[in-house]
Amino acid sequence: MKNAGHEATSANAGMSAAGLPQGAKAPSGGSAVREATSVGASIFRQDVQSMHAYAIQDSAGMVKLDAMENPHRLPPALQVALGQRLGALALNRYPDGRVNDLRHALAAYAGMPEGFDIMLGNGSDELISLLALACAVPPGAENGFRRAGVLAPVPGFVMYAMSAQLQGLGFHGVPLTADFELDEPAMLAAIAQHQPAITYLAYPNNPTANLWDDAVIEKIILAVGAQGGLVVMDEAYQPFSSKSYIDRLARHSHVLLMRTLSKFGLAGVRLGYMMGPQALIAEIDKVRPPYNISVLNCECALFALEHHEVFAAQALEIRAQRAMLLEALALLPGVRVYPSDANMILLRVPDAQKTFEGMRMRKVLVKNVSKMHPLLANCLRLTVGTADENRLMLAALRESL
Ligand SMILES: Cc1ncc(COP(=O)(O)O)c(C=O)c1O
Repeated sequence: MKNAGHEATSANAGMSAAGLPQGAKAPSGGSAVREATSVGASIFRQDVQSMHAYAIQDSAGMVKLDAMENPHRLPPALQVALGQRLGALALNRYPDGRVNDLRHALAAYAGMPEGFDIMLGNGSDELISLLALACAVPPGAENGFRRAGVLAPVPGFVMYAMSAQLQGLGFHGVPLTADFELDEPAMLAAIAQHQPAITYLAYPNNPTANLWDDAVIEKIILAVGAQGGLVVMDEAYQPFSSKSYIDRLARHSHVLLMRTLSKFGLAGVRLGYMMGPQALIAEIDKVRPPYNISVLNCECALFALEHHEVFAAQALEIRAQRAMLLEALALLPGVRVYPSDANMILLRVPDAQKTFEGMRMRKVLVKNVSKMHPLLANCLRLTVGTADENRLMLAALRESL
């Protein structure tokens, strides 16, 4: 499941009629292969069989600006200090109470309100899956014989739909307006119609990179609360955002706030966290695998929080680079640039496929999101990189338009 949904446009996109990834060859081998295939055909879920595993784009030798990673590594002195600390860990033991130190450190770092609790996931991907698992109530008297559902504005982060599909929940995507704002009447109508168990609001959104109107967000939160659902404010891009929901969190008893250390600078570590009223977190935490945070992940995250000023300086630099890029991109003929509160920028170009391929040939990897949703026709999404990377990216883009 890891990575399975991050960039896929739909669960079974790119499949051949035979259920094989496009370009894949059917096995031609001996009886063992044939046997395995026939066993698989009867035991694996049909929807799983018609999916294809996510292939990570090969980025060797490329300027990698496709996945909203922080482009900065740890300074050398901290690399040595972290190495010593990790080397001294008891890797022979299962993770222990140290993970509670991390929960407390993250709660303090985020400014979690009193009476709230925090749970950790192997990336926020895992938290999204666990939430769907915990809410996969089969149709029955308690939910008016409805299939439990997940609702989110689209285009949005693909794991919301993916987790719903895999746990048997319905997914209700509500299109944003043409300028990527929340469509208030459509959202309120969909909430009334579907009564979703979980409503996701990414703040800011991926891939559009914008923050939505706060008054509309509040109306949506109240509407979901009135019919007994949960709202998850997904703040994956909080280090680069001008606003956070954290100060508004305590107003409601049905809102969860999810964040990750991935964009902060630890995408390789895999650490997501979710804060919410204690009673809600207690229920969701029951479906979490007991040792989901490895001792290595845990210690890396603690180390990073002890040096949070290093990451804060990196985020500041990324925000300055974003401002520079927004100005430079706006000057390119035929290019429309959208505002960003994240470490990514969405662009509309005359021919996204041509520009994407041209940039790739020039060794710059961005993300072609133009097939993800009709609202994103001819759109590319690029991650804000270092000053050098951004210079290379701009040159490649200019030559590839
Ligand atoms: C809006 C949003 N939420 C969550 C995630 C998942 O982050 P991770 O699993 O790395 O914590 C992403 C990743 O791109 C994202 O864009």
